[in-house]
Amino acid sequence: MKELFPVYSKNKDLVYLDSAASSLKPKAVIDAINDYYLNYSVNIERGVYKLALDATKRVEESRENIAKFINANPEEVIFTRGASNSLNMVALMLKRILHEGDEVIVSELEHHSSFLPWLDVKREKNIKLVFVPLTKEGKITVENFKSVLSSKTKAVCLTHVSNVLGYKTDVKEIVKLAHEVGAIVSIDGAQAIPHERVDVKELDVDFYSFSFHKMCGPTGLGILYGKKKILNSLDPVEFGGEMNDEVSKDSVTYKALPYKFETGTIPIAEIFGANATIDFLNEIGMDYIGKRGLELRNMALKELLKLKEIEVYNGSEESSVIAFNIKGVHSHDLVTALAEENVAVRAGHHCAEPLHRFLGLSATTRASFYFYNDECDVSKFIDAVKKTISFFKEVHYID
Ligand SMILES: Cc1ncc(COP(=O)(O)O)c(C=O)c1O
Repeated sequence: MKELFPVYSKNKDLVYLDSAASSLKPKAVIDAINDYYLNYSVNIERGVYKLALDATKRVEESRENIAKFINANPEEVIFTRGASNSLNMVALMLKRILHEGDEVIVSELEHHSSFLPWLDVKREKNIKLVFVPLTKEGKITVENFKSVLSSKTKAVCLTHVSNVLGYKTDVKEIVKLAHEVGAIVSIDGAQAIPHERVDVKELDVDFYSFSFHKMCGPTGLGILYGKKKILNSLDPVEFGGEMNDEVSKDSVTYKALPYKFETGTIPIAEIFGANATIDFLNEIGMDYIGKRGLELRNMALKELLKLKEIEVYNGSEESSVIAFNIKGVHSHDLVTALAEENVAVRAGHHCAEPLHRFLGLSATTRASFYFYNDECDVSKFIDAVKKTISFFKEVHYID
């Protein structure tokens, strides 16, 4: 599998366990991006010459492929700059229909990109943010969700899979309950869709946001899925070229979906890359991708748990991340030592500070596995952790 990812050819010893931050990119995706720059290079939607028409067709084919991948209609698939951009757009769109005293359900498990837009809406509109109480391990459960859902709930904005603990939210059940009180549900899928088949119709979500760079695709491109009926009822929050029909000195009418939400020149090369990304993931198979990441993660977890110096914060089998520390060692010191061994993992609060406060931790170390890792990566990672423990003992950092 590693031969499909050119970065390994120049970094043969790399043990890459930071895919939750950004995945590696396969050659097929890089080639598709280059195809745009080498063979098209022009803008889309505007020109009537052949190159522009062909490039526009390729962009729309990509949209169709993505729509099929998540079981949406193409007009419900909006190209954005990434999950953060998508999540901000949802908050800005809904801000206009929220009133003082309305409640929006969020959680302490959220990535800052999912949570901070709502903090801003709260400041401006005086709405109430209601937090789903997490279980002591840090999970969102349906029971706890029910305890905060009420007739005042107007929107629900939750993560599908936590970027720190990997815990999975029961989105389908939560959406069902939220719809019973008439609330709109927006899900942050940035850490779910790289590992599992997401069917937006089956989940019945109103909005679903994700980034391509975490799923073997290009940087700078995200998707905002929105239900047609809801998107049609909302106004755009970004303005500029190509999203409007008619403009006068004091008025504007907008294009139909999805174009009214896509402003200016969209990331064309990345959209070429996204089409190849979907083909690539389909070819490998989402079932295999999900299973393999989990399998490698569990192999590593089993070995880590044998080490008494290690503290693991997410023992249960839900996704391919391990959140851990060496007892008494700051995670930044741990990842610096692991980097010396060519093991790439991430330290810190992972843009989820409220969760770390909830867990009573200043930082965690996150090893995130993906299907291109292998058993050799697992054993090099474990050896590097053992070596780091021995080193910290030698220098009396820990006992
Ligand atoms: C759960 C979650 N949501 C949102 C984001 C934001 O994604 P992006 O940085 O691609 O906008 C991330 C990125 O780490 C994430 O893990």
